Amino acid sequence: MFLRAPVFQFILFLSYFWHHCSSEDFLFNGFKQATDQLSLAGYTKITKDGLLQLTDDTPSILGHAFFSSPIPMIKTNKNVSEVASFSTSFILDIITVGNAGGHGLTFAIVPSKELPGADVATFLGLLGPTNDGNISNHVFAVEFDHVMTILLNDINGNHVGVDLNSLKSNTSQEVAYYSTPTSKVAFQLESGQPIQAWIDYDGINKMLNITIAPFQIPKPSRPLISYHVDLAPIFKNEMYVGFTSSTGKLASSHYILAWSFSTQGLAQAINLSRLPKFPHPPSTITASRSKVIKIGILSSVATLAVIAILISVSIYLWQRAKLAETIEDWEREHPHRLRYKDLHRATKGFKETELLGSGGFGHVYKGVLPKSKEIVAVKKISNNAKQGMREFIAEISSLGRMRHRNLVELRGWCKRNQDLLLVYEFMPNGSLDALLFNRNNKTRIILNWEQRLNILKGVASGLLYLHEDWEKHVVHRDIKSSNVLLGSDLNPKLGDFGLARLYEHDTNPHTTHIVGTLGYMAPELSYTGQATASSDVFSFGVLVLEVVCGRRPIENNASTDEVNLLEWVRDCEVQGHLVKVIDARIAKECDVREIEMVLKLGLVCCQSIAEVRPSVRQVIQYLNGTEQLPDDLKLVYLNPDSMSFASQKPFPWLYGSVDASRKSFPSYGTVSVGSLQGGR
Ligand SMILES: *[C@@H]1O[C@H](CO)[C@@H](O)[C@H](O)[C@H]1NC(C)=O
Ligand SMILES: *[C@@H]1O[C@H](CO)[C@@H](O)[C@H](O)[C@H]1NC(C)=O
Ligand SMILES: *[C@@H]1O[C@H](CO)[C@@H](O)[C@H](O)[C@H]1NC(C)=O
Ligand SMILES: *[C@@H]1O[C@H](CO)[C@@H](O)[C@H](O)[C@H]1NC(C)=O
Ligand SMILES: *[C@@H]1O[C@H](CO)[C@@H](O)[C@H](O)[C@H]1NC(C)=O
Repeated sequence: MFLRAPVFQFILFLSYFWHHCSSEDFLFNGFKQATDQLSLAGYTKITKDGLLQLTDDTPSILGHAFFSSPIPMIKTNKNVSEVASFSTSFILDIITVGNAGGHGLTFAIVPSKELPGADVATFLGLLGPTNDGNISNHVFAVEFDHVMTILLNDINGNHVGVDLNSLKSNTSQEVAYYSTPTSKVAFQLESGQPIQAWIDYDGINKMLNITIAPFQIPKPSRPLISYHVDLAPIFKNEMYVGFTSSTGKLASSHYILAWSFSTQGLAQAINLSRLPKFPHPPSTITASRSKVIKIGILSSVATLAVIAILISVSIYLWQRAKLAETIEDWEREHPHRLRYKDLHRATKGFKETELLGSGGFGHVYKGVLPKSKEIVAVKKISNNAKQGMREFIAEISSLGRMRHRNLVELRGWCKRNQDLLLVYEFMPNGSLDALLFNRNNKTRIILNWEQRLNILKGVASGLLYLHEDWEKHVVHRDIKSSNVLLGSDLNPKLGDFGLARLYEHDTNPHTTHIVGTLGYMAPELSYTGQATASSDVFSFGVLVLEVVCGRRPIENNASTDEVNLLEWVRDCEVQGHLVKVIDARIAKECDVREIEMVLKLGLVCCQSIAEVRPSVRQVIQYLNGTEQLPDDLKLVYLNPDSMSFASQKPFPWLYGSVDASRKSFPSYGTVSVGSLQGGR
């Protein structure tokens, strides 16, 4: 008995091993070698380049491809049946010739490779009118659908959905990815570019995560869809995994470039440098060139006269070529696109005399739009990074819908080669930094305290709208005085929101660029690289100090103690000389206590620990006086070993009501200096 037990265990182990490692874990980097491992049906084929082509763009066809062997999806473990966890990742590419294609594809887990009843068009080759919604289907799918079908309750013509026995999705989301846990970037399935998708199901916690992102963007940490669903009623013991797709009156070619699947933990990563050659993207010929081609065809059957016309047309087109623009299909889908020609005219050919200013992001020109005669500011950004331009424009054009009295309105955008042009409403009083710091210019208005306070309140309320009140939460990432623009009544408007994003996408997507402006950047940015609402509050705090003190955050000509505005104000507060830092031009104004309160609020916003900074909503309450800052604000450093302030300078600090702080600031005492510096 004792002797036999290990043998028995070994056999058990073997059978376990056999059962679990047979075929549940596979990776195809291209499908050239996969012909005998996949069962193809309908129009689906493997191209000579190794692409799995689910459909071409023939109207009303369908196709599917399943892994040939069934996969055990219910596992019996000590008499208890459990739904297997699974993880899959694949790269899809949808190629549309013309303006709109259809219909989409699914990743499907089905009981049989035959798919009886599957139909074309909206049914995505998965189900059909006879069986859609029938619980005896035992079908699970994630659909990537680029046509809106009202009968199936589709949310739009570009979505990802979870389908249980029916193409009426149980949940769906517009196609997008989270670039940070709070900011979502929409993009198009039909962009023509490869897209990677990850589907992870945790059979124990019954959580399904779906993540999707343009090719080469690393897997975003927050999934687009996290859906709690028990797949036990759907799955049979053995299921087939694969893809289905269909076209209808609208047709596109649907491809899978690579596919990885596992029921043993995370699916193996797809090696992006070993993909087959991409299918041809839709032609991105210019409008003018396509005219030339059409005329070219005509000319082959036409007379010399036609050729003469062709030549003169060509000359005409050639002359206009300087102003021509390459419009990729996806660009048409975003609203507020303006014509380059019009912007060129509006700014008198980007003439130097029209230059309003130059900043980190490029030059800004004043312009008059030809049709509406509206005065605008045109920001011309030269950007060498192709990566991210599309996501960025998707985001910019969605931000363009934002309307708030304290946000500069985006009127439109235009992309020309590597240049991105953003058109904003014109702000007659220029930027706040020019008003605050250009002391030489005698014609400048000197802002009094009341005006300064109003500017701070306005900026805070614009920021609150970005952080909390708009349909999605937006982090500004670059709050500073040069991004605060003033209208004719000195009403402040925050500009350039979201622009920093463009630079984060720059070059290698695997390295995080920290974008922001020296002197305004929260300390945690250097180790998390993640801009948050709280890092915006930090920058706002620096702006507050700037406005009250009337100097820049970094002043290299100042004495050593005063180079860094924040440190200077903080040290003056410790020494009890806070009044000293107030801008001489407002220091005599009546309500010094109010000015001091605002300075202290600035310090509260600039605390080193992100979690203890107030939200913008609280900041507004303090500024409006509906909430009082505690009377016993005190500065403490997060080093338990020494009590000497002077020697503590390099350490993180808190500025709060000390007794209250122990209760309400959870980080105090739990965040150790070591872990802060070690990089959270
Ligand atoms: C396992 O299931 C069988 C049949 O359902 C039952 O007779 C047996 O008692 C179960 N064993 C345990 C340990 O639950
Ligand atoms: C669901 O499918 C089963 C098996 O194909 C069939 O017998 C049944 O009638 C269908 N139910 C409905 C409501 O269509
Ligand atoms: C999914 O949606 C169908 C209707 O389309 C519904 O019958 C089913 O109960 C839903 N399943 C879950 C798990 O919500
Ligand atoms: C799903 O996403 C959530 C949130 O990011 C994460 O906590 C969870 O572990 C994920 N589950 C799976 C199965 O990937
Ligand atoms: C990906 O493939 C390339 C080329 O075959 C190879 O050099 C590289 O090591 C692979 N990367 C990984 C992570 O396997």
